[in-house]
Amino acid sequence: MRPKDQFVGRDILGGEYQILEKIGTGGMGSVYKASQPAMNRMVAIKILHPKLANRKDLASRFRREARAMSQLSHPNTVKVFNFGELEEDGSLYIVMEMLEGRNLNQTVRKDGPIPPERAIPILIQVCGALQEAHDLGIVHRDLKPENIFLARQGGINDYPKVLDFGLAKVTERQMNPGSIILTQEGMVFGTPEFMSPEQAQGKTLDARSDIYSLAVILYEVLTGKLPFSAKSPMEYIQKHVTEPIIPLSERVPEHRFPSALDEVLARALSKKPEQRFQSASEFAEALRPYGGPAAQALPAPGQTSSAPEPARTSERRPPLQSSAGGQSQSSTALLLGVAALCLIVGVLSAVMLMRFLGH
Ligand SMILES: Nc1ncnc2c1ncn2[C@@H]1O[C@H](COP(=O)(O)OP(=O)(O)O)[C@@H](O)[C@H]1O
Ligand SMILES: [Mg+2]
Repeated sequence: MRPKDQFVGRDILGGEYQILEKIGTGGMGSVYKASQPAMNRMVAIKILHPKLANRKDLASRFRREARAMSQLSHPNTVKVFNFGELEEDGSLYIVMEMLEGRNLNQTVRKDGPIPPERAIPILIQVCGALQEAHDLGIVHRDLKPENIFLARQGGINDYPKVLDFGLAKVTERQMNPGSIILTQEGMVFGTPEFMSPEQAQGKTLDARSDIYSLAVILYEVLTGKLPFSAKSPMEYIQKHVTEPIIPLSERVPEHRFPSALDEVLARALSKKPEQRFQSASEFAEALRPYGGPAAQALPAPGQTSSAPEPARTSERRPPLQSSAGGQSQSSTALLLGVAALCLIVGVLSAVMLMRFLGH
């Protein structure tokens, strides 16, 4: 019999949450389903393994994940309600919306490869979530099928939610005072199968590394296979850096894919970031023609940057400036409104004057 999990059945935070069952486990801890009676809802709580809570690097990474996620409000990013430290034993926790469904890895294992008309609408929505993160200077850095959840929400089955910003990097500008950047250049981290060449080489990453990983995910979802054959994680890392990808139709000859879709994937999987799509929105728009009617109906993810510059995280405006931009937009609207009112009053007065003169 498996030893009982130390959190299952526990009330935490003075009884605010009751932990019911474990729903996921990763390297850093576990995710639990819990009830929050005061709000009459279920939540998901990710708890950093108590054994790891005294590892300063992991604790800071966990806090960074919570902070990064709480800045994001895109509907395709999992919502964070709260985070902190349990009084009882100092374990770190993140309270999130509870999602019903399966992650993309479980879905592909259960359903097999997914056709483009189903996979591409999912990917376009994930691009929307990433565009928001990138605009805020947050690079996910660990995109893989396990970190994309297909939720059942409001009668929709494949509602994607991006999870697990555990390796996300927030640029210096965006970080709160006192926090430090943990992953230095030269350190390799992430998941070998989905790593961009620059990630595999321990280089500094920007939004375009996430675009590469997203393209590997799409490749795997469409074919059930990765874009290279390799026998070990090390071999994957090496092939991401040096080997050209195998075209879709060669990888699974029994399926026919439009050759233009192969070209879109090949571009997103370019070894050099400057040869890829430069933003998640741009990648989404390139995919849209191959995603059937559902893809056509989706709104464009985020606003596409019209600047030719890549979505470099350090060059993004801090949120304060964007909110100031919002204010100036609303004052422009007010000025236009006043101008329109003056025009109407002017025209009406002229009409009345002419009538008066006419009499
Ligand atoms: N909010 C949630 N609702 C439902 N299931 C979730 C939620 N968050 C995570 N999970 C499940 O738990 C797994 C691990 O969560 P994740 O955040 O990726 O943790 P880790 O950092 O340990 O990889 C996910 O793949 C998913 O299946
Ligand atoms: Mg994960």
